[in-house]
Amino acid sequence: MGNGARTGTVRLGILGAGNIADMNVAGYLEHPDCDVLAVCDVDGALAGEAAKRWDVPRSYSDIDELLADDDIDAVEILTPTHLHYAHVKAALAAGKHVSVQKPITNTVDEALELGSLADAAGLTLRVSECFVHYPPLEMAKKLISDGAIGRPIGVRIRTVVGQTDSTFQAALRPEGYGWRLDKRSPGGHLFDDNVHKYAMALWLVDPDIISVQAVVRRRDIFFEPCAVIFEYDDPDLLGTMEVQYAREMWMRSGYFGADEFFEVQGEEGFVWVTRATGEMLDLPPVVLYQGKDNARTFTEFDQIDADWATGFRRSSAHFVEALRAGTPAAMSATEAAKVLQLCFAVYQASDTRQPVDPRTITGSVTPAGWAEW
Ligand SMILES: NC(=O)c1ccc[n+]([C@@H]2O[C@H](COP(=O)([O-])OP(=O)(O)OC[C@H]3O[C@@H](n4cnc5c(N)ncnc54)[C@H](O)[C@@H]3O)[C@@H](O)[C@H]2O)c1
Repeated sequence: MGNGARTGTVRLGILGAGNIADMNVAGYLEHPDCDVLAVCDVDGALAGEAAKRWDVPRSYSDIDELLADDDIDAVEILTPTHLHYAHVKAALAAGKHVSVQKPITNTVDEALELGSLADAAGLTLRVSECFVHYPPLEMAKKLISDGAIGRPIGVRIRTVVGQTDSTFQAALRPEGYGWRLDKRSPGGHLFDDNVHKYAMALWLVDPDIISVQAVVRRRDIFFEPCAVIFEYDDPDLLGTMEVQYAREMWMRSGYFGADEFFEVQGEEGFVWVTRATGEMLDLPPVVLYQGKDNARTFTEFDQIDADWATGFRRSSAHFVEALRAGTPAAMSATEAAKVLQLCFAVYQASDTRQPVDPRTITGSVTPAGWAEW
């Protein structure tokens, strides 16, 4: 499947075989219309082990070898975030379609440049955002857009990070953390993980965010507890976002020691998504309350697949299917750039204690004191 000829099997190369690779690659390995042909990691032993584990025929330790492989149509980029810009650019220059992990890049300008390069080359570039493909959040978005809660008037997103004894977390290689904690990253947890939540603040409802107010603190080097207010481009719609770091609180999770709670309030009712990364609460994953005309209907969606890994699998499947159909793949570089703008606006609003319009941010913003240790 070359550029333009978008039928047949997608022949994929994987760049980066680190901590999150298995979660992403599962959806490609199981897809009937995708052949994972190669894996590449600068750590050649890691690439070799992954090739064996995934039953992938070719393994490389140099990106140039991977990109010179003419049998490969598309690349999934799973390298550290500060390398995404160079790796996406090189893959596009080699004529490959690209899926890259969040955050797309370290700066807004770089994200937009990559989007323009892909468009000019007629290639697909998408950011793999697993929350966009997480069934409970997809269901919430559909309920909202179908009018189940009336006109949205409030968005509330809460993240709590704590402790877990999951085997996934215990198996994480510490090498995956160095680049997240120093100047190779423009910020800490709000940049690395909370981009998912910024993406949701923009994706669950239609209006853009035009102003941000925030207080961000720092705990244990990386974590950034915060309280944030979003003003949407709709005078009736406000949003709030909280991130807490509860370092002594244990929770049930199959993955990282974190969980999320989402609430969208409408004029006629509200919808909750009660989990994402973890399984902290024994609540149905999606709950809908409808109160129009005194209906007072409470619907629990407890049969929905709420495994966080499903978002990864479906995200990978979505890329394959979009390439085969020649349709755009979520999320676009433009949308991912907006997510970065929101992230950096929060840092700037906190540092200056002034409201910030995220649309004014072009580069990146690093919070005061970041990585000065
Ligand atoms: N969707 C999610 O929820 C989620 C979760 C975790 C990580 N991520 C993202 O996935 C990406 C990778 O994260 P991770 O935790 O797996 O990191 P990691 O450091 O564990 O893995 C990165 C891998 O890339 C390899 N690498 C580095 N430079 C390379 C190069 N030039 N060529 C080939 N390989 C190279 C490293 O050797 C390492 O094995 C990051 O962008 C991160 O933000 C997403």
